[in-house]
Amino acid sequence: MLVKGRLEFAKHPGFSTSTNPCACEKCLSEDDPWFMQLFNRSVKPFLSSEDNLSEDAFNWWKNERRNFGVYNKTVDNLFQMFPPSPDLTEPSPDRCRTCAVVGNSGNLKRSYYGPLIDLHDVIIRMNGGHTKGYERDVGTRTTHHIMYPESAVDLDNTTHLVLVPFKIQDLEWLMKAFTTGFFGESYMPVKSNIKANKDLVMVINPAFMRYVHESWLENKGGYPSTGFMALDLALHICDEVHVFGFGADKDGNWNHYWENLTDKNLKTGLHPGTHEYDIIKKLAEKQKLKLW
Ligand code: C5P
Repeated sequence: MLVKGRLEFAKHPGFSTSTNPCACEKCLSEDDPWFMQLFNRSVKPFLSSEDNLSEDAFNWWKNERRNFGVYNKTVDNLFQMFPPSPDLTEPSPDRCRTCAVVGNSGNLKRSYYGPLIDLHDVIIRMNGGHTKGYERDVGTRTTHHIMYPESAVDLDNTTHLVLVPFKIQDLEWLMKAFTTGFFGESYMPVKSNIKANKDLVMVINPAFMRYVHESWLENKGGYPSTGFMALDLALHICDEVHVFGFGADKDGNWNHYWENLTDKNLKTGLHPGTHEYDIIKKLAEKQKLKLW
């Protein structure tokens, strides 16, 4: 893939070319002390049937009254239905896996980034992000779509549904939305059924969410935004990360590329949006990712 930004990127000392831990022109190096305080490769981004969540992490995460036993039983049931281990390739000197993380910012309008986004191996979109009618600016392909029940959308057969769960009910929603239908209540209406490929479902590990909140965001804000989690996920699963569609409008609101903002007091919701954006800019300065 020949992308101007990538070539510029390759010259930066933050990327190692001599030891070649990956097959990209440049690889994510783990040499910067600030970055290494934030980044911990050993935290697993996805749940799998082989890793158990600690009770401590469960208590940080749970957001509802039911106990750890109920969580463990629910996860057992989950892996009866969905792939028990995540579909990931391990890092290797032969691998150059590029990620495009596509946030939903209005700054994508008239960006003409579509063809560039489509060149990446992994293309991560989230929540209401969609391509139809916006292909010129946002591209056409989606390999992974991150959502939670309240933000869920139907997907095509080739896209990984990546659930960010905030409570046990969200894991139950996933199972029911693919089978009997979900008719429980949440803080806003939730889709009762979902169309997506069951064999491509992946679930974000609550321990990873805690790590993003505590380590990356120093416990600031209610919890990390979907976009910030997606970006951290990309740093964990890809060798080279390109970030599109992040950034508030001139009034500090998280507007979307597909609609005009109606709530002028939206700001960045419950999320520490300004802090997140400062970290993203610093990651870009240190050439750990490319911010478009
Ligand atoms: O608004 P929504 O949560 O669907 O957007 C997805 C993500 O894109 C957010 O979590 C945020 O990280 C990012 N975003 C942004 N600037 C915007 C809108 C969204 O950085 N104007």
